[in-house]
Amino acid sequence: MTQALPLTPDYDAWPIEAEPKQVFFSPRLLTVTWCDGRESRYHSIWLRENAADETTVNPATRERILDLSTLPSWPEISDAEIDEAGALCIGFAPEGLRLRFHPGWLRAHDYDNAHDPEAPLVPITTWKRDSGEGLNSLDAAGLLETEEGSETEEAILAPALSSILGKGLVRLRNLPTTPDSLEAIARRIGPVRPTNFGMLFNVKAKPNPDSNAYTSIALPPHVDLPTREYQPGMQMLHCLENSVEGGEAVMLDGFAVAEALREQHYEAFATLTRARWCFANTAKTTDYVWYSPMIRLDERGELFEVRIADFLRGPLQTNFEDVEPAYEALMVLQKMLRDPTFAIRFTYKPGDLVIFDNRRLLHARDAFEGTSGHRWLQGCYMERDEIRSRFRIVKRASRKRNATDETSFA
Ligand SMILES: [Fe+2]
Repeated sequence: MTQALPLTPDYDAWPIEAEPKQVFFSPRLLTVTWCDGRESRYHSIWLRENAADETTVNPATRERILDLSTLPSWPEISDAEIDEAGALCIGFAPEGLRLRFHPGWLRAHDYDNAHDPEAPLVPITTWKRDSGEGLNSLDAAGLLETEEGSETEEAILAPALSSILGKGLVRLRNLPTTPDSLEAIARRIGPVRPTNFGMLFNVKAKPNPDSNAYTSIALPPHVDLPTREYQPGMQMLHCLENSVEGGEAVMLDGFAVAEALREQHYEAFATLTRARWCFANTAKTTDYVWYSPMIRLDERGELFEVRIADFLRGPLQTNFEDVEPAYEALMVLQKMLRDPTFAIRFTYKPGDLVIFDNRRLLHARDAFEGTSGHRWLQGCYMERDEIRSRFRIVKRASRKRNATDETSFA
């Protein structure tokens, strides 16, 4: 009987794009040539750490248990071959272990090539009002009736998650309008992040409001909860009722605004990436305060998040000479936020659920006439991690369905 391919150190399926053809080794280096001519190089220490056997990975969790520093010396390759199953079979000294590596996994994790492992799961495309459909609308009727983890559930979630990751938002339509059904809908993606406003919050005009959101006044473009060290990555707004006059929703891509600032007003952009503003939400029983620049870049200079909400800003306290430049930059930004070419506008229909990246998109709303009818949105928060994780799982499920080699995963 043909030997099966080995497990991988994860739960994924790794299709074999090309069979390994030849293998060469020296004590600290393995070189694999593949049938399509590609060559991959791996250090012995990297291979040893990424093995999938029981001395390296707990088979119950597939989490690593090996501590490299406990090995008697630097792991070296004593022999290497491609076995009859097509796995890379490698001997390690001084342990005297022979460990097998799945060729699909090994090739996918070749670090010596141009692939960027940190590249976004879906390419990020910034948008303005007229740059094509900023707001993807998808029919999600029946989502709650689908079996969890089923292909029909994935058929609704996959394009939605892709849109959130790429454009920062999506609108699901034709969902139930039952109060609190948002929690069940959200759980199809991932756990909700509770806040002092509750697991779900109700956006409607109410007496004794503890936020401007709970009145009928207009709200300027903002992110929610910039007053937290870690702003919620996602926001979901689910329309249960909307019969008021006014109250049109407005959304802007904060990354598009930041890019325009970088191109047209570099000085203001640079200041907004440096100056640490105060964001404060001081209510009768809570007192949240955080300090941060309004635009944050990652280590590579890519846009990472925006933190903008005029009505949640506390007093700026910084070096005396930095105050006026900070306000100059703020006003350049504020003017840009009023530029209608950035904003898409729409009216919520009962059964609509808009999911958006709260650390990228800005949302706003027009004032509405409180006595003209009812406007009731329920909202909740979630982290970006949940969207990425769910998207990877949906992709994994699809790969597993397509995998021809059923032995390549557990
Ligand atoms: Fe808001």
